[in-house]
Amino acid sequence: MKIITSIDELRDQLRGQLRTAFVPTMGNLHEGHLSLVRLARRHGDPVVASIFVNRLQFGPNEDFDKYPRTFQADIDKLEKEGVYVLFAPTEKDLYPEPQEYRVQPPGNLGDILEGEFRPGFFVGVSTIVLKLFLCVQPRVAVFGKKDYQQLMIIRNMSRQLALPTEIIAAETYRAEDGLALSSRNMYLSASERIEAPHLLKTLHSLKHDIRSGRKDIAELQKIAMARLVERQWKPDYISIRKRCDLQPPNTDDLTNNEPLIVLAAAKLGTTRLIDNVEI
Ligand code: PAF
Repeated sequence: MKIITSIDELRDQLRGQLRTAFVPTMGNLHEGHLSLVRLARRHGDPVVASIFVNRLQFGPNEDFDKYPRTFQADIDKLEKEGVYVLFAPTEKDLYPEPQEYRVQPPGNLGDILEGEFRPGFFVGVSTIVLKLFLCVQPRVAVFGKKDYQQLMIIRNMSRQLALPTEIIAAETYRAEDGLALSSRNMYLSASERIEAPHLLKTLHSLKHDIRSGRKDIAELQKIAMARLVERQWKPDYISIRKRCDLQPPNTDDLTNNEPLIVLAAAKLGTTRLIDNVEI
């Protein structure tokens, strides 16, 4: 595996490659990331991964400085997966001057749910993803469904800007007890780790309620939030949305079996977890 930090060198290395499959990451790789790499391999060749902890997508009080950086272990894992190039730029390589041109997703998708609780997050994500796409020029790129809103924003960006990159969605990779794998799980204490799968249980129970015909969505969401609070969680949101645009469904949508999804973000101790379940 070639480890490349400069954009020019990356372009030289990938010149003429028409079927590159790309997996962007912020490192601290776990099985979830590796499942994205395996899916990428099924859709293209060579496989290129990137590791870059993107300051632009962290809020002032978020964990940019303490975000886990495990570069050597990450290299070993990607090498074992047969990744051809790891693009691991420094901040100077990628942001040699302040990044003043940015990608602004539409408010109806970018300022709701995660965007409401993490202002500027999706501007930071969209900007870095577009920039990485311009560096790597992949034919396909793989994103996990765990970050469902991110996946939709990137997919819409790619479509609306006519990027030559197809966005592939990967299923959420879960531990045996159901907890979605995330680099931030390592912040959980032992007792919080035992409690953490309860978020998914809550989402499954909402899915069950909707599937059995309940239409009182606001009430269901309120009860689910209150139950989490009773168990010492601090939920930001639990929200049933339409899968096509992440807007709240109306009664007709519920009657017409519009594909739905329930998304949640909640803090357990100081660790913020997100998850979702398609209904
Ligand atoms: O999902 C992530 O790890 C990041 O948001 C991404 C897509 C690598 C952009 O920094």
